[in-house]
Amino acid sequence: MSKMIDEVKRTHSCGELTAADVGKEVVLFGWVHSRRDHGKAVFIDLRDRMGVTQVVFEPGFDAAAHELAGSLRLEYVIGVRGVVDSRGGNINPKMKTGEIEVHATGLEIFNRSEALPFVIEDEVNAEETTRLAYRYLDLRRPAMQRMLMTRSKINQLTREYFAQNGFLELETPFLVKYTPGGARNFLVPSRSGSGKFYALAESPQLFKQLFMVAGFDRYFQIVRCFRDEDLRLDRQPEFTQIDVEMSFVTQDDIFTAMEGLVARLWKELLGVDIPLPIPRMEFDESMRRFGNDKPDLRFGLEHVDFTEVVRAHSGGGVPLFESILAQGGIFKAIRLPKAHTLSRKEFDELEKDAKGMGSAGLGRAKIGEDGSWSQTPFAKTISDALREAINAATGAEPGDTLIFQMGRAAMVHAVLANIRLTLGKKFDMIPAYGTRDGDWRFLWVVNPPLFEFDEENKTWVAAHHAFTRPHDGDVAHLQSDPGRVKCHRYDLVLNGFEIGGGSIRLHDPEVQKKVFEALGIGEDEARQKFGFLLDALKFGAPPHGGIALGMDRVAMLLTGAQSLRDVVAFPKTLRGTDLMTGAPGEVTAKQLEDLHVAPITKNETPAAS
Ligand code: AMO
Repeated sequence: MSKMIDEVKRTHSCGELTAADVGKEVVLFGWVHSRRDHGKAVFIDLRDRMGVTQVVFEPGFDAAAHELAGSLRLEYVIGVRGVVDSRGGNINPKMKTGEIEVHATGLEIFNRSEALPFVIEDEVNAEETTRLAYRYLDLRRPAMQRMLMTRSKINQLTREYFAQNGFLELETPFLVKYTPGGARNFLVPSRSGSGKFYALAESPQLFKQLFMVAGFDRYFQIVRCFRDEDLRLDRQPEFTQIDVEMSFVTQDDIFTAMEGLVARLWKELLGVDIPLPIPRMEFDESMRRFGNDKPDLRFGLEHVDFTEVVRAHSGGGVPLFESILAQGGIFKAIRLPKAHTLSRKEFDELEKDAKGMGSAGLGRAKIGEDGSWSQTPFAKTISDALREAINAATGAEPGDTLIFQMGRAAMVHAVLANIRLTLGKKFDMIPAYGTRDGDWRFLWVVNPPLFEFDEENKTWVAAHHAFTRPHDGDVAHLQSDPGRVKCHRYDLVLNGFEIGGGSIRLHDPEVQKKVFEALGIGEDEARQKFGFLLDALKFGAPPHGGIALGMDRVAMLLTGAQSLRDVVAFPKTLRGTDLMTGAPGEVTAKQLEDLHVAPITKNETPAAS
């Protein structure tokens, strides 16, 4: 039926014709983006991923084309032949092709479109659920096309950069053996070995280390990773890493390699020069000042720890303070300067957030002219001396508000880190998403502890993974005081997002043994869990280290997108579902049987074997 597609080739995209092309005969293919039918003349904007071109149909140019143009509707897919003409006085400076229009001498409708669930425009007011259900239409929107084109460019630049720097692009398996630690894995039943499962790789971590043992020296991969975690705006169950491993390197070498990549991406995609080297901050300092290890350095509202002040005053007469001190809790505050005030309702909302994060409540004190406290239940009980000491420690001035939190360190940090961000956005110190005025604050957060204490099970667990190299000077404390052992791990942070993380790996079997001992992992257990890596490390493993950048997060930040969903072509919702295909979906009893998997309903326990 359709002839034009066989007879002629597209001569131009819809985004490239200018005044220089006037007089040329052209062939354009694309979608009807908008139409105005004035009877004698039909105007359409023809769209493809490169842009939009105005096409005019008039009987004088071609009577048949003009007649057919009357039946065009939005999102019809068409082919147009025509001649480029100047728009004369009607130039549209906002459009790249705004100087010209195409006078149509031929039209073919390749396909019609039903009425759309939403219009294909940058500003779309459809619910996100509708957009996700019709993702292929959502992806037609120029804004989404720009996002994915940027993503494609990131991939290309990354490949180019690593190839120029002597890295090999090597692939690793997705179907792997489950190894404990890290994120929860998606499991895939194996049909061949009854009752056995693969895990979907949460990262290529162990394999890339094996590449180093194998002598490949410099590896990179743009690789899909799978993690069955609670989802957030910056977390997808499948996401992409720019994964890197290098042999015979120190931490500085890895930083230099990654800084080169980041600077190249920002320069090429945004024209922004990132000052190098990227500054570094100790993990402990980041926790102290910001309550987390991914501080947003674009604004202040830093945390102040006043635990020692409360201790020096033995709780200052406040029973709650005394009991928190006795339980080994900490006290921290954010000083909100007097220019920024919170209404009762706004504060209640903050408190609700805090409670959602496991806090019993949120402290607040408004500082009076004489340094007195109001709007707080502690005003009555707290001693003048402690109150004044806290004011001094936090730098609180009359009119300021202190927002404080006390108790278990992890909880205090989590709550105040979150509140700092909420306040920063609320008072427009940072935008709700994206960044302003080219304010890109990259940071390396370095030297975190090797272990974390697992309160629930009362044991030390690896904070990252069990193959991270401890600082040489701390090896002696592995047994006696695991909590003080720092390690060669680092995160790359940008404007409050962790965009990458990695470490120098442990390649010394003696130290490795001590780390396992500190983790309470015996030799047999270690063999069972990580046997293949332990074996490999025995056969001449070079010193090595690496990092992975969260590519989706990089794309989100580079494009100013609101969430990862805007830079992932076919994303999952926060509940892990795909609204377009309906995944995850049901499977048949026969499929389960083939896989030796028996379904269990909630109240049923599996039969003991
Ligand atoms: P890590 O677990 O820190 O390190 O992951 C590296 C980076 O990947 C991004 N990221 C995610 N992005 C989107 N959705 C997710 N669910 C998600 N999880 C992580 C983050 C993070 O900084 N193998 C190690 C790297 C190494 O040590 O070399 C690893 O995977 O931006």
